[in-house]
Amino acid sequence: MRTYLVTGGAGFIGSNYIHYMFRKYDNEIRIINVDKLTYAGNLENLKDIENRENYSFVKADICDKEAIRKIFKDNDIDRVVHFAAESHVDRSIKNPEVFIETNVLGTATMLNAAKEAWEKADGTFAEGKKFLHVSTDEVYGSLPDDGKSFFYETTPYDPHSPYSASKASSDFIVKSYIDTYHFPANITNTSNNYGPYQFPEKLIPLVINNCLQGKELPVYGDGRNIRDWLFVDDHAKGIDMVQEMGTLGQKYNIGGHNERRNIDIIKTIIHTLQEILPDDDPRKANVSEDLITFVTDRKGHDRRYAIAPDKIKAEIGWFPETTFEVGIKKTVEWYLAHMDWMENVTSGTYQKYYEDMYSGR
Ligand code: NAD
Ligand code: DAU
Repeated sequence: MRTYLVTGGAGFIGSNYIHYMFRKYDNEIRIINVDKLTYAGNLENLKDIENRENYSFVKADICDKEAIRKIFKDNDIDRVVHFAAESHVDRSIKNPEVFIETNVLGTATMLNAAKEAWEKADGTFAEGKKFLHVSTDEVYGSLPDDGKSFFYETTPYDPHSPYSASKASSDFIVKSYIDTYHFPANITNTSNNYGPYQFPEKLIPLVINNCLQGKELPVYGDGRNIRDWLFVDDHAKGIDMVQEMGTLGQKYNIGGHNERRNIDIIKTIIHTLQEILPDDDPRKANVSEDLITFVTDRKGHDRRYAIAPDKIKAEIGWFPETTFEVGIKKTVEWYLAHMDWMENVTSGTYQKYYEDMYSGR
């Protein structure tokens, strides 16, 4: 049975990945989820799997060398899937320091602990051990608004925000371990994810939540910045496929082939809500394009991201399966069916969940 160490598994993508992996492998794998439970980590995301015998949770900071070492010492880890990070660009502009600590130093801690546990006396690595570093397309900088240029694995790094610079640094540290020690790792660089369990500071859940409450929908700048949206389950599948079928030492871009302007995303959400909400739902009256409010632009706002997922398709056979029309409808429906989750997250109540759930355990 393969044992996975997943970092940041209580966050948006990490929790979707854990759900995906149990759906796919059921009792064939064991997952240990290590998460510090920052404001973005929410164990409620994993409520339905938390009692599985082949799942366990460790509350720890990835910068805590001893805590991470202990996990490797106590368990024969076969796979590391490293999600844990500070992930929000706006927060990195206000407070860059924690991004450098977690994203750069935390990644180095994870690499060192894995290297120490997996390296043999002759400097080679035990058979079958693999580390996957989850990164972002933002490391490549910004593309012109021409619809023709794309990010490839060979595109030079040109990060602009403290967030993307910290992720770029972490990618280079992983690369240096691959190049220097032949450390068994892959790097994936992925475009904007959307789907269930995303913290409502990010554009899509923020717009859904504000619409339902009749609050303004803040559009940065002219609203014509472009992102390449990928349904989170497709990302989870891509990560697993890269780890099992990719060539060790290689990096793979994972993208949705789904470029949209922010203003169009917002209008699509408004129209989807208008379509789904029943006429007698009092919230329906709130949902209108009149809520759209243009606000001051994000500092250093990248204009366009677009990944060409050619390498992962050619080498591994992965492609984005979920169309945006299907994915956004599923996402809006999920939030409508989980308004208690949204309320707990926005009120901060979810942070008590850990205490309630794990006190005395
Ligand atoms: P998220 O903010 O929702 O979750 C991050 C998780 O990491 C949280 O559970 C948090 O508690 C945990 N964490 C933060 N600091 C920690 C620390 N010091 N020690 C242990 N745990 C810590 O983020 P996300 O959107 O799920 O992103 C996950 C990863 O994917 C990140 O590495 C991010 O850079 C990358 N990524 C995200 C996207 C996206 O669209 N969201 C796209 C590409 C890549
Ligand atoms: O590209 C991958 C990246 O996607 C990940 O690495 C990041 O972790 C993830 O947060 C995401 O970054 P973005 O900055 O693209 O996502 P965000 O949802 O914050 O913003 C999406 C776009 O919407 C961006 O152009 C800024 C704009 N925006 C965002 C918010 C929160 C608005 O116009 N208004 C808003 O209120």
